[in-house]
Amino acid sequence: MEDLSLHILDIALNSIEAGATEVSIRIEEDREKNLLSITIRDNGRGMDKDTLKRLLDPFFTTKGKKTGLGIPLLAQAARETEGDITVESSPENGTVVKATFALNHIDRKPLGDLVSTLMSLIGGNPEVDITFEYRKDKNSYNFSTKNIRKELNGIPLNLPEVWHLIREELREGLKKIKRKEAKMKKKVLVIDDEAIVRVSCQRVLEPEGYEVKVTSRGDEALRLMEEEKYDIVLTDLKMPDMDGLEVLKEIKRRWPDIQVIIITGYGTISTAVQAIKLGAYDYIEKPFTPEDILNVVKRAMEDR
Ligand SMILES: Nc1ncnc2c1ncn2[C@@H]1O[C@H](COP(=O)(O)OP(=O)(O)OP(=O)(O)O)[C@@H](O)[C@H]1O
Ligand SMILES: [Mg+2]
Repeated sequence: MEDLSLHILDIALNSIEAGATEVSIRIEEDREKNLLSITIRDNGRGMDKDTLKRLLDPFFTTKGKKTGLGIPLLAQAARETEGDITVESSPENGTVVKATFALNHIDRKPLGDLVSTLMSLIGGNPEVDITFEYRKDKNSYNFSTKNIRKELNGIPLNLPEVWHLIREELREGLKKIKRKEAKMKKKVLVIDDEAIVRVSCQRVLEPEGYEVKVTSRGDEALRLMEEEKYDIVLTDLKMPDMDGLEVLKEIKRRWPDIQVIIITGYGTISTAVQAIKLGAYDYIEKPFTPEDILNVVKRAMEDR
């Protein structure tokens, strides 16, 4: 399975097969914590302790076939990213399956087509109520078939006209999150002991809508990053207190999601190459033009 959407579909189908009348799907992306979590909750018949114990066994199923792969495959996808899966279940309270992933892990599967997943769930099970919450950092989108059902006076959700309307609503909702994200001011931190570099970065980036903070010291930069979240850091390599490579290593260790761009002077190109190997996004050479700075920052934002 290539996309997490397909795993979500599988787990939600387990819920429906277990007689659930309500299934809630919650996806949360938290860049600061480098965490993606997917939680699927149902009010179905739940599982007894024995079933729960055997859930991760691919040859365990209660559906009269050879394998039961839904949960083991989701667990595998999560663990490949150093994440994990938890399942809580009881006959009284139904089931909660929660999978966590390291958001920026190289092996993390993409979410894929969430709208299609939700639409096939709704289309195939129009009597089940589906709740969907998607949270991306501070922005979120909520959807529930319950709200739609209220307005429909008994018209089934899988009637083609209704189904298309729901699909549009979901598409629009997810797009809105993307738009909101794009509008939020991106924060850039510039670390360079030369005042001219700090000032020119500010002059170029601020009119383009970036919020720019500057500092001449690496240790000060790390302190600033503890206080607030930055999207991009531009750092010099040679500085009197803390070396640029050390700053880079520390940033990548603590905030792997921040894009770091190296500013190099004469004679430090080989160090810049080393920096790329340590996880820097790219480097620019001094002296640079306003376009150089702007282009690399834009690219770094887009490639995140
Ligand atoms: N939400 C749930 N409520 C009640 N029982 C569940 C739930 N999810 C899973 N189970 C139980 O756990 C078993 C294993 O689930 P899993 O998704 O791994 O495999 P499966 O559904 O049996 O087969 P597959 O997913 O490969 O079609 C199921 O057969 C079912 O007994
Ligand atoms: Mg299954």
